[in-house]
Amino acid sequence: MYFYGTTGVNKSGHLEIGGVDSVELAKNFGTPLYVYDVALIRERARGFKHAFDEQNIRAQVAYASKAFSTIAMVQLAEEEGLSLDVVSGGELYTAAAAGFPVERIHFHGNNKSREELEMALDYQIGCIVIDNFHEIELLKSICKEQTKKVNILLRVTPGIEAHTHDYILTGQEDSKFGFGLQNGQAEEALAQTLPFKYFNVLGLHCHIGSQIFETTGFLLAAKKIVEKMAEWKETISFEADVLNLGGGFGIRYTNEDEPIPPSQYVSEIIKEVKQLIDHYSLKMPEIWIEPGRSLVGDAGITLYKIGSSKDVPEVRKYLAVDGGMSDNIRPALYQAKYEAVLANRPLAQTTETVSIAGKCCESGDMLIWDLPLPETEEDDLLAVFCTGAYGYSMANNYNRLPRPAVVFVEDGKEVLVVKRESYEDLIKLDLPLK
Ligand code: LLP
Repeated sequence: MYFYGTTGVNKSGHLEIGGVDSVELAKNFGTPLYVYDVALIRERARGFKHAFDEQNIRAQVAYASKAFSTIAMVQLAEEEGLSLDVVSGGELYTAAAAGFPVERIHFHGNNKSREELEMALDYQIGCIVIDNFHEIELLKSICKEQTKKVNILLRVTPGIEAHTHDYILTGQEDSKFGFGLQNGQAEEALAQTLPFKYFNVLGLHCHIGSQIFETTGFLLAAKKIVEKMAEWKETISFEADVLNLGGGFGIRYTNEDEPIPPSQYVSEIIKEVKQLIDHYSLKMPEIWIEPGRSLVGDAGITLYKIGSSKDVPEVRKYLAVDGGMSDNIRPALYQAKYEAVLANRPLAQTTETVSIAGKCCESGDMLIWDLPLPETEEDDLLAVFCTGAYGYSMANNYNRLPRPAVVFVEDGKEVLVVKRESYEDLIKLDLPLK
């Protein structure tokens, strides 16, 4: 068994997280319950930041809040000196409600609405990452109307797609995001934005994929972008101040995954960028990255109560829990794999292989296939590891299941940071026919 962060087994033989007994958490807050190990989030954040600081590289580590956006999480990101990547009016509103320093907010998205862009200008956020020609026009018209200047990055697609372990080099990348770097779109975008007096073009952004276990893709992307920067210095005397290489750093969900430490991604990226910069005699840009999953993924654990079971003789045994694709849609959507133990007796000898089903009315609502577990009893607690990224943020009310509560634990203390949804919450926005 592999424990993450401050997770371990306490004197009562229960799973403990951040010095807090998980069985007590389930008793006090109910299940399903998302529990976050705050110390581990801090450790990850400091790991990324330190890797830049120790080499004196100007940088911003922006937490990609799509992975898990709540007021408390945004405040924790602020405490750790991170910047923040938001991708919608809702994430931006959350950041503002949390009191996040606006100058460290970066706004992404391939179809930002007029209202969302106006909101970003009202808040005076640090930077808008422009994705397409429609957005250039829209933002120009808003800036002109309001006579407001804004920092922008141009999102480009460098023609590299990372598929976890391998990279596809595509001449003309087929992606809904960004300006093609190879096909003239990036030049055109620069030509349309650089002369506009209300835009301050800071530089370029790219994001090559998610759950990436090697540095190759990041280095290839950096190379392609810096080559373009060198070309632009020659042709139009434009030198970028910022190079944003996005997120996507892989984490360990199961023992099939072998991530490298955050510091290694960063140090190899720095080395490559420095070499390229020297080679082309450019000025060293500020390097920005946008980790989401790798900051919060393995810090999250979901606690469920085990209920019914079903034996299919000589095929498999299903064990059902009190949540499922409503609180973790990743197995159904991406065939994502997870590990789990019984929270009330994590060290008990495993004696059987079971498959963990959710409670939604859909056959595809399975959380884990073929999990070794001890024989279970009703009301045993299942702890599923590594649910901190894209669990709560992709939770939904399918079958009108209320979304679970979220608890932060640190140094033996727990804090409720998101309340459990109630049945009243579920019908709050409904209006009667008459
Ligand atoms: N920056 C940009 C522009 C992105 O699009 C993303 C993720 C990130 C940063 C953060 O990537 P991360 O470090 O978290 O891998 N729902 C999927 C993940 C979708 C990621 C979308 N973009 C999942 O559950 O695996």
